[in-house]
Amino acid sequence: MKEKLNRIVEEATSRIESSDKLDVLNDIRVAYLGKKGELTSVLKGMKDVLPEDRPKVGQLVNDARKAIEDKLEEKKAAFEKKVREDRIKAETIDVTLPGHKPVSGHKHPNTIALDDVERIFIGMGYEVVEGPEIEYDYYNFEALNIPANHPAKDEQDTFYINSDIVLRTQTSSVQVHEMEKGKLPIRMIAPGRVFRSDEVDATHSPSFNQIEGLVIDKNVTFADLKGTLAQFAKDMFGEATKVRFRPHHFPFTEPSAEMDVSCFKCGGSGCRFCKGEGWIEILGCGMVHPRVLEMRDIDSEEYQGFAFGIGLERIALLKYEIDDMRLLYENDVRFLSQF
Ligand code: DAH
Repeated sequence: MKEKLNRIVEEATSRIESSDKLDVLNDIRVAYLGKKGELTSVLKGMKDVLPEDRPKVGQLVNDARKAIEDKLEEKKAAFEKKVREDRIKAETIDVTLPGHKPVSGHKHPNTIALDDVERIFIGMGYEVVEGPEIEYDYYNFEALNIPANHPAKDEQDTFYINSDIVLRTQTSSVQVHEMEKGKLPIRMIAPGRVFRSDEVDATHSPSFNQIEGLVIDKNVTFADLKGTLAQFAKDMFGEATKVRFRPHHFPFTEPSAEMDVSCFKCGGSGCRFCKGEGWIEILGCGMVHPRVLEMRDIDSEEYQGFAFGIGLERIALLKYEIDDMRLLYENDVRFLSQF
C-alpha cells in the first residue's frame, strides 16, 4: 500500500513539474484528488484493509493527498508569479525613448492673414461685422450706386438666384446694412466670402474673400483715408512699407483710388516678385459717394466717409509668397502644414 501511494505521489509530482499551463494543473488535480481520482479510489479500497491497520493507512493516504496538494499549490504560485513578471516586463516604460509628438492642426494662410488684418483695425477702433452671402440685388448693386446697366451685373460675373437675389459679388454690400442700422459714426470692417462666375486659375476663383472697410463721421477727409491705409500697410507688411494711390473708378466712391504698397521683397527697386514694378496693388478705396450716403438718409454735407476693399487671398498670397491661388482651396495638408 505504501509503495502504491508513493508511486501515485511520484507520478503526480512529475506531471505537475512538467505542466506548462494552469489548465493542465486543474486536470491533474481532478485526475488524482477528484471524485473518481486515483487517491480517492485508494480510500475506497480501505474496506479491504485490516481494521487495526486502517488509521495508519488513512494517515498515509492523507500524507499523500497533502503532498500532491502542496505541489499543486507551489506550481500554481509559480505560474502566477511568472504571469505577473511577464506583465511587469511588458509594461515597462523606457523613459529615455523620444516622445510621440502629437499632430496639431495649422491655421489656414487666409485665416492667419485675416487675423492680422482684424488685429490691426481693431487696434484703430474698428468693429468687425458680418453680412449675408446671399443678397438682394439692391444691397449688392443699386444701393451702392451701381446702375442697372453696369457691366458687373452681367450674368457672366454674377451668380443670380433669381432676378432680385444674387450671391454677393463684393462685401461692399455690408456697408449698406451697416448704414441702414442708423447709428453714426461708423468704423467697421466686414470680412466675408464673395462669389463671381469666374473660371478657376492661378489668380481667379468663383469664391474668394474680401475685407470691406467703412468709416463715416463728421469732417472725414481723403487725408484720413491715406493715413489709415498707410498705417495699415506698415503694420501688415513692415515699417519700411511705402504706399501710393492711383486714381481709379468705383461707382460707390468719389474720388476713388487703388492703393499700391512698395514691394516688401525688393523694397521698391523692382524684382521678380513685383514683376519689376517695385509696387504691388493691394486694395481699392475712395471717399463714400454722396449719393450712397443720401440713399441712407445721411446728410452728406454733415457727414463724410471713406471705404476700402481688400482681397484677402491677395494678401495671403503676397505675405507667404504663394504663387497659385488654387493651393488655398485644395486643402492639401502638405501645403497647409507649412504655415
Ligand atoms: N468692392 C470692390 C471690388 O470688389 C472693392 C472696393 C473698392 C471696395 C473700393 C470699396 C472701395 O469699399 O471703396 O472690387
